[in-house]
Amino acid sequence: TPYETILVERKGRTALLTLNRPKALNALNLQVMHEIVAAAEELDRDPEVGCIVLTGSDKAFAAGADIKEMHPQDYMDMYLSDWFSAWDRLGRLRTPTIAAVSGYALGGGCELAMLCDILLAADTAVFGQPEIKLGVIPGIGGSQRLTRAVGKAKAMELCLTGRTMDAAEAERAGLVSRVVPAEQLLGEALAVAETVAEMSRPVAMMAKEAVDRAFETTLAEGVRFERRLFHAVFATADQKEGMAAFVDKRPPAFTHR
Ligand code: HXC
Repeated sequence: TPYETILVERKGRTALLTLNRPKALNALNLQVMHEIVAAAEELDRDPEVGCIVLTGSDKAFAAGADIKEMHPQDYMDMYLSDWFSAWDRLGRLRTPTIAAVSGYALGGGCELAMLCDILLAADTAVFGQPEIKLGVIPGIGGSQRLTRAVGKAKAMELCLTGRTMDAAEAERAGLVSRVVPAEQLLGEALAVAETVAEMSRPVAMMAKEAVDRAFETTLAEGVRFERRLFHAVFATADQKEGMAAFVDKRPPAFTHR
C-alpha cells in the first residue's frame, strides 16, 4: 500500500479503509484527506468493489480535523488552497459507503462519517461538532449534513454549544442507522457491506443516487428522477436475473451489468 495514514484491505467485493493515525486519534490532516480520497476513488473505479467500509480505531473514528495543522493558517492560505475541498469528492463516489464509528467522531470526524451512505455506531461512539470551542465552525459540511440528519433543534444546539451526543442519542435523532456493541461493530459493518456488495452494482448505484437526490431537490422532481431510474433498471441484465430467480425460487446470480 502506498499510504501512510490509512490501511486498505479487500475482502471479496468489500473494501475496508481504516484510518491509522493512532497517536493523534486519527485527526484528519491533509495527508489523511488526500489518502482517503485517492484510495476511495480508486476503489470506486473498480468493478469488483461493491461497497466500501470506512472505520477508525476503538477509541476514535476521528477526533476531528488536525487542529495543529490548521492553527497557523490564515484566510489566504485556506482560500487559495481551497482547504478541505477534496473531501467533497468522497460524497460524490458512486459505490455505497459505510462509516463504522467507534469512539470519538468529532468535528471533521463526524463530518466524515456523515459523508458516508450508511452510518453504523458502536455503543461507545461520541458525535459532535465542537469547532465553536476552538473559535471556528464546521468546514466539511457539518452544519448542512447534521441539520438534514437530525433537524435544526439538535444541530443548532450541537454547533452552538459544542456538546457531544452519545450513540443512543445519535440513533434516536436519526444520525445513525443502528447501534451495536463495540466488539461487534466491524463484523456487523462488514456483513452489511457484503450484503450490499452482493446486490447488483449498477442497481445499488442507482438506489444510492435516488436517495441522495432527496437532499438536492423538490419532492416532485425527486419522484420523477426516481421514476426515470426505475425505468432504467429494466435495461439491466440483473433485473432479468433478479426477477427470474424469484420466480424460479432460487438465489439470484447477479452479473453486475
Ligand atoms: C490534532 C489531535 C486532535 C485534533 C486529538 N489530538 N484530537 N491533534 N487535531 N483534532 C491529539 C492530541 O493533541 C494528543 O496529542 C493526542 O491526539 C491524544 O489526544 P488527547 O487529547 O490526549 O486524548 P484524550 O484526553 O483522550 O481526549 C480525547 C478528545 C480530545 C476528547 C477527543 O483529544 C479532543 O478534544 N480533541 C479535539 C476534538 C475537536 O475539537 N475536534 C474538532 C476539531 S476542529 P499529543 O501529542 O498531546 O499526545 C474540526 C474542524 C473542521 O474538525 C472544520 C473547521 C475549520
